Amino acid sequence: MPEHIYIQDVAKHVGEEVMLKGWLADKTDKGRLQFLKVRDGTGLIQATVFERDVPHDVFAAARNVSQESSLEVVGIVREDKRASGGYELAVKDMRILQTALDYPIGPKEHGVEFLMANRHLWIRHARPRAILRIRATVIKAIRDFLDSRGFVNVDTPIFTPNAVEGTGTLFAVDYFGEPAYLAQSGQLYNEANIMALGRVYCFGPTFRAEKSKTRRHLTEFWMVEPEWAYAHLEDLLQFEEQFVSYLVAQVLDQRQEELKVIERDTRKLEAVQAPFPRMHYEDAVKWLNAQPDETVHMIPGDDLGSPQETALSAAYDRPLFVHHYPAAVKAFYMEVEKDRPDLSLSADLLASEGYGEIIGGGERTARLELLEQRIQEHHLPRAAYEWYLDLRRYGSVPHVGFGLGVERTVTWICGIHHLREAAAFPRMLEKMYP
Ligand code: 4AD
Ligand code: MG
Repeated sequence: MPEHIYIQDVAKHVGEEVMLKGWLADKTDKGRLQFLKVRDGTGLIQATVFERDVPHDVFAAARNVSQESSLEVVGIVREDKRASGGYELAVKDMRILQTALDYPIGPKEHGVEFLMANRHLWIRHARPRAILRIRATVIKAIRDFLDSRGFVNVDTPIFTPNAVEGTGTLFAVDYFGEPAYLAQSGQLYNEANIMALGRVYCFGPTFRAEKSKTRRHLTEFWMVEPEWAYAHLEDLLQFEEQFVSYLVAQVLDQRQEELKVIERDTRKLEAVQAPFPRMHYEDAVKWLNAQPDETVHMIPGDDLGSPQETALSAAYDRPLFVHHYPAAVKAFYMEVEKDRPDLSLSADLLASEGYGEIIGGGERTARLELLEQRIQEHHLPRAAYEWYLDLRRYGSVPHVGFGLGVERTVTWICGIHHLREAAAFPRMLEKMYP
């Protein structure tokens, strides 16, 4: 039996007889010659079956094999300048494991509704495969960056007794007769963990009962949340711009082929380098209200909505920080500006090209009295937060942190329209299947 190799490694086996195991992506029938496009998850290669070179039954199988049938092919790897990828397999033998009949996704254009309903099959195709590989690279880059800078990965619970980002988007579950919620963020636990470990991050799935149907909202998404002690807003912004620049650079470095498949304009990504521009919230409001497009006008004091974020983030060739949002539109844990207590020490990072917020973060209040007051103002059940208040009773320090949404980041880096393509099996309002 020849050695089983992966298509990504064929260059190392030129002239050798090898076995590939995969699926039929496409086929061209030229009579005595059958061109099979075989994919195995690592790549795509043309397997050429010449009637003259194979037993009769093998040729018949090659002629009849249908799209997405699973198969093993044995042949000689040849260098071929004309073949896409530069190599082809001259087939000597072939075995079909299972014949796929009436595979629903053909070469013709399908609507996205149809493709999403068949997401379990659609992921086999070039575009989703490319996006999922880019996502994996982003996730690895996130870990590499944080691990190499002394951040300790401490994962936080998913069942939680309290809200972090407002009570409006909590998923309630029955926890042995007691109410519990799926985590909206690991931040509050991170704040406990930094007092033990200095710098930490949690990285996992996050849940929000988002009742709006937008292209930027999932009900389940992945978020990385770094948090560290003895730091202020300025430290946070500098760290974030280095972090995001690194993620983009890693994708550019490792995923050129995939970026080509999805037709990403990579010059736009090459521009993403620290430092990033910054805009005070109040200047952002002025800028927006001076735009000729009235749909981006807003009332000072309000939170930025999608149209505002889109306009701001389309104005620069790299991500933009908007900082010092009104305390009233931000979460209860935010520290405020000393001489402007109405403004929070918060910053969102808006991705370029109109993509909008990919990071939310800021400085947390280190003061017990302010935190107690906020818990009251936000009508949060104090008992559920007693442990969190302890962090201000026992060695409170200035500290910062942020959360970066993986799907938002991947959507922006890939230059795609909708967040649903940045997860293998996205969860949205009205979308749980498959
Ligand atoms: O701005 P958010 O709500 O911030 C927090 O959760 C903080 N506790 C994070 C922290 O400081 N540790 O969410 C952070 C990021 C957003 O910028 C966005 O990228 C992503 O999480 N995000 C979503 N992604 C997809 N679907 C949703 N419904 C999202 N909500 C937030
Ligand atoms: Mg936010």
